[in-house]
This record gives sequence, C-alpha cells and structure tokens, in this order.
Amino acid sequence: MSRRQKQSLVKKRKGLSEEELLGLESKYCSWGDTVHYMKHPNIFERCEGSYLYDKNGVEYLDLQMLYSAVNFGYANKRFNDALKRQIDRLPQLACQYLHEEKILLASKLAERIEMTFEEKGRIQFNVGGSQALEDSLKLVRNHTGRTLMFAFMGGYHGRTLAASAITSSYRYRRRYGHFSDRACFIPFPYCFRCFYGMKRDTCGMFCLKQFEKLFETEYYSVLDNKTNICEFAAFYIETMQGTGGYVAPPREYFPGLKKILDRYNILMVDDEIQMGFFRTGKFWAIENFGVTPDILVFAKSLTNGLNPISGLWAKEKLISPEAFPPGSTHSTFSSNPLGTAVGLEAMKIIEESDFAQEVPRKGKYLISRLRSLQKKYPQIGDVDGLGLAIRIEMCEKDGFTPNKALTDAIEEIGLSGKLTAGGKQRGLILDVGGYYKNVFTLAPSFYITEMEMDLGADLFEEALLMALKRKS
Ligand SMILES: Cc1ncc(COP(=O)(O)O)c(C=O)c1O
Repeated sequence: MSRRQKQSLVKKRKGLSEEELLGLESKYCSWGDTVHYMKHPNIFERCEGSYLYDKNGVEYLDLQMLYSAVNFGYANKRFNDALKRQIDRLPQLACQYLHEEKILLASKLAERIEMTFEEKGRIQFNVGGSQALEDSLKLVRNHTGRTLMFAFMGGYHGRTLAASAITSSYRYRRRYGHFSDRACFIPFPYCFRCFYGMKRDTCGMFCLKQFEKLFETEYYSVLDNKTNICEFAAFYIETMQGTGGYVAPPREYFPGLKKILDRYNILMVDDEIQMGFFRTGKFWAIENFGVTPDILVFAKSLTNGLNPISGLWAKEKLISPEAFPPGSTHSTFSSNPLGTAVGLEAMKIIEESDFAQEVPRKGKYLISRLRSLQKKYPQIGDVDGLGLAIRIEMCEKDGFTPNKALTDAIEEIGLSGKLTAGGKQRGLILDVGGYYKNVFTLAPSFYITEMEMDLGADLFEEALLMALKRKS
C-alpha cells in the first residue's frame, strides 16, 4: 500500500460510526481477551470521577472502577498533572538506570510496610499484576528450592502461564497442556456457601481443621513427617477474594492458617493486586486480619490505573542482594518513570487523606442502601463487604440458589445505557464475579459521594426490576 493510500485510509477511519468501529474490531482484534464475554461490547469516549461516557454523551455510573484499579476516581487531576510533569522531564528511561521517583516510591512502600508489619524488606517493580506474581514465584522457588504451591479454590492470580497454574479455574488452563506446577487448591472460607456444608456459627473453623489434617500423616501426601519437610513451598492467598466474588473470611481464619504454615516452613504470599491501597479500608487487606505475609504483591491502584506498573515486597531474607542477585528478573518497562511518578503521587495522596476512616464509612452507607433493597427483593441473597469492596449475590427467589441469568441480565441492562433513575438517561457499570458468576463485585471510587451512592442503588433497583420483568 502506498503512503497516499495509507493516509487516505487513516483519514477515512476518523469519525467512524459505532457500528463501523465494531465491525473493524470484530474482524481485526483478537477475541482472546474478555471483550466478547459481552454480547454487545461498549465503546467509551471519555471518563471523569465516577463516570464513563459513551460516544453519544450518555453517562454511566461506574461501580467497579476498572476492577478496583481506579480507587482515586477517573481522570483525577493530581495523577494527570503528575504524569504531564514527568512527560516533560524524564518520560522514559531504561530500567537499568536509576531515577529519583523509583527510589522514592520503593522507599515509601517499604517504609510503610516496615512500620505496619515490623519487618524489613525490599521492593521489586514489574509490569502488570501477573508479571509481579511471576516474580514472587521466582522468589519462592529460589528460597525454598521447591515448585509446588497451595492456593485457594476461587482464587485468581492472573492469566500468564505461571499465574494460571495457581489460579483455580481449569477453564483458564484447559487448552494449554499439562501444568506440572498446578497448585493444590484448598477450599476458601466462603461461609455463605461453605464447601463442607457447615454453618458459620457452629463450624468451629472446620475448613482450617481439614487443612491442618493434611499434615497429620505422610499418607495425606503433602509432608514428610520424619523430616518435617513439606512438598509445598508457599500458600498463595487473596485475603478477600476478588474475582471469586468479594468474599471475606472470618477474622480468625488467616491467623490460624499462618500458624499452620509456619509450623511446616511454608511461605505465605499475599496477593493484594485487587484489594491493596485501601480498597478494604486498610492500606493492605491483610491488615484486617493481623497477619504478616512473607511476600506481598501489588499492582492496579498503585497508579490509579494510569500505568501498568506493579511490584512486590518481600522479607529481606528472600530478596536481599545475596539471595536475589542482579539479573534475577527484568522487564523493559518495569519501573518506567511515568509509572513511578504516578505511583509516588498515589502515595502522597494517601498520606494526605484519611481513607482509613472514609472508606469504611462510605462502605457502610452503600451496604445499608443495598441491604434495604435486599429486604424488598428475595433474589438478593447476600450483601456484604469490607471497606468499599462490596458483594451483591444474586439468587433465585429462595435467596440461595445461584441465579446467573438474572445477574447477566442486570449487567447487560446497566451497560445498555437506557436507565432513567435520577431523571436522565444513564448507564450503570457493574462487574460480575463469584464461583457461580452470580455476584456483583462493587469497587466504587473512594471519592464517590452519598448522592452518587443513592443514585447507584436506584439504578441497580431499576435494572433489577427490568430484568425481573423480562423474565416473567
Ligand atoms: C487478585 C488478583 N491477582 C492478580 C491479578 C492479575 O493482574 P493483571 O491482570 O494485571 O495481570 C488480578 C487481576 O484482576 C487480581 O485481581
């Protein structure tokens, strides 16, 4: 194709209609990502605060904020300005060389973790959650010499090959051959639907006892009792399951689990990729449970979704220069200056704010609004949350049997942008997770107002009523 032909093609493509764009997308974009989970993918044009806007200017209230990557609101001026300042000064640099923002960001994170957990450690940056998780696997393998991991049923750690091996869904592994390092998946304390059919009030932490039992005799296949050497190197946890449906365990679960792990020299790796940076009302979700992990992995909201920088913190014994020497990991764009500058701004905003009070206060308010809806609609089986990580579990009329069809219908109605609550045409952005794909996982902006939470509850009720009407 000549240059002139190319130029005219580019010109022609400017100002294409939505149908034309979707036609091109369907032909030239891989369908291997999650866009085509939806029958009618949306195209958005602009964002601000808690809202996305489509090409027709319709406003969509977003109650999931890029899977909790945009904790501080869309197009936040503080982050945009930090990015612009960095673009004008040092926009790119090979990660082999140093720049101030990287050093300051790592120091702030490590110092805060040291203050919280009274543990010294270091930070390693990478690109994207899964890649940081892969780095954590390197640290675990390097330290223990072992390759097998425990992880939770319902856990999600990403979709690279190594992250898929510790993510419970076989669906993500099925077409990619044998995973010799596939984790051993342990039931998560999802008390609304206990794996063992127990009731929380009377279970006596039965699930924890079942895990502990694995170590009782060598015939249960995880421990050589003669040497106290376990075949498993680490347990990968999300303290509140994200994709699994925003499930929080009973408070005593993780302290109990850590005791068992310590007894058999099994590391605890805490995946804070979705729940970190105050989503649950604490800087790290694990702070809700009084446990110190050996490795902590973070991503998403470190840059408020502006740059895919991620990272991990590990205890000094795992990540000291002697243990993890130069060249142990590397990626061209890890610790890129645009990411570190924005990350540093996130840390400054956190230091200036009182999210420890604000997030739980707002979470409580939204939960109370949703619980009032639960009283009216038996199809809302469960409403719960920690901070501003809130779950709505959709069921049949019995309030328990999972109702995926109703969930999908509500999500689709929200995305159609044809709701009218609040007096104008609007949409509602919801994300669906959960073991039966029947849970709305709400992760609104930390700056969401009471009025917007009221609007969110009204839009949700309107979508629910429309979905119920469709069914009948
Ligand atoms: C808990 C958790 N771990 C890991 C990941 C993977 O991160 P990424 O999609 O950036 O690779 C995610 C993404 O949703 C996540 O929620």
